[in-house]
Amino acid sequence: MGENLLAQNLFSLKGKVALVTGGGTGLGKSISKAFVKNGAKVYIASRKQKNLEKAAAELNSLGGPGKCIPITADITIKEECEKIANKISEKENGKLDILINNSGTSWPTPLKEVPEKVWDKVYRLNVISVYYMTIACLPLLEKASNAPENPSKVIIMGSIAGIIEGDFRSLDKMKMNRTTMVYNTSKAAAHSLARNLAVYLTPCGVNVNVIAPGIIPSRMNLSVLDRKLAMEEIPQGRLGNEEDISGAALYLASRAGAWVTGTTIRIDGGTLLYGKDVGREYAIANKSKL
Ligand SMILES: NC(=O)c1ccc[n+]([C@@H]2O[C@H](COP(=O)([O-])OP(=O)(O)OC[C@H]3O[C@@H](n4cnc5c(N)ncnc54)[C@H](OP(=O)(O)O)[C@@H]3O)[C@@H](O)[C@H]2O)c1
Repeated sequence: MGENLLAQNLFSLKGKVALVTGGGTGLGKSISKAFVKNGAKVYIASRKQKNLEKAAAELNSLGGPGKCIPITADITIKEECEKIANKISEKENGKLDILINNSGTSWPTPLKEVPEKVWDKVYRLNVISVYYMTIACLPLLEKASNAPENPSKVIIMGSIAGIIEGDFRSLDKMKMNRTTMVYNTSKAAAHSLARNLAVYLTPCGVNVNVIAPGIIPSRMNLSVLDRKLAMEEIPQGRLGNEEDISGAALYLASRAGAWVTGTTIRIDGGTLLYGKDVGREYAIANKSKL
């Protein structure tokens, strides 16, 4: 009795099929690893085939119970999103239980000199591709859904940068005096996209939520991250890691998160408790330089 409440059942992904964009590196790889360890068949999709194959081999060497399959694609191209969905549909009887829209990019620039190509590149991946990927997968997600008890899940990788304004001092190690304003606004748009999608998709049996991480070391931030400063900006005094990101993803993707939709889960060691002071300090320090 009460077996359904055991963590290994409540958080299990046994038999589930997942797609993680950008699943070959960083946060996406951590989530894919956790999903494989908890029973899911995980498709990882991004541009760099060699990298994906290496990551898939590493995850498959963990001994299951799930497995990992790489798909090479550039998801900024709408047709490539459709190709990924078609490929999974053919292999999985038209079904996909979980879509993690994780691929993302940042391109810091001086405040007054943001080239148009920066807006285009960052918004194309962080916002527009999330929409096309989700719409391409929608028929598969609807077919896999067992709503209302066990709906299908879409998770969008947002950021605390999409919740507050300004820049973290700890992400300007080279003292380049650049702002991530384009990235910040793109993540705010991604959060809004998630809430809008949730309005329409939840009644169709597909939950949509956002994970908004604070700083977790990855390829995206390693060269700009000043770890010492980051400790001062994070109340818990440490950076995030693979357990932190995987815990949130497992919760939202499994039965445990079945009644959660249209929300944003912040995982940031309390960073936003220090709120706007973070960006304000940076702005004052760089007043004449940005
Ligand atoms: N690390 C952090 O502190 C942090 C904090 C908040 C939010 N995030 C978010 O977490 C997500 C993952 O970032 P990360 O930190 O793990 O950095 P990362 O390792 O650089 O991951 C970015 C991923 O996006 C993929 N990607 C880039 N362009 C693509 C394209 N055109 N088509 C398909 N995939 C593409 C990359 O793979 P390919 O190069 O093979 O295409 C890569 O796997 C991003 O959305 C980021 O904004 C990260």
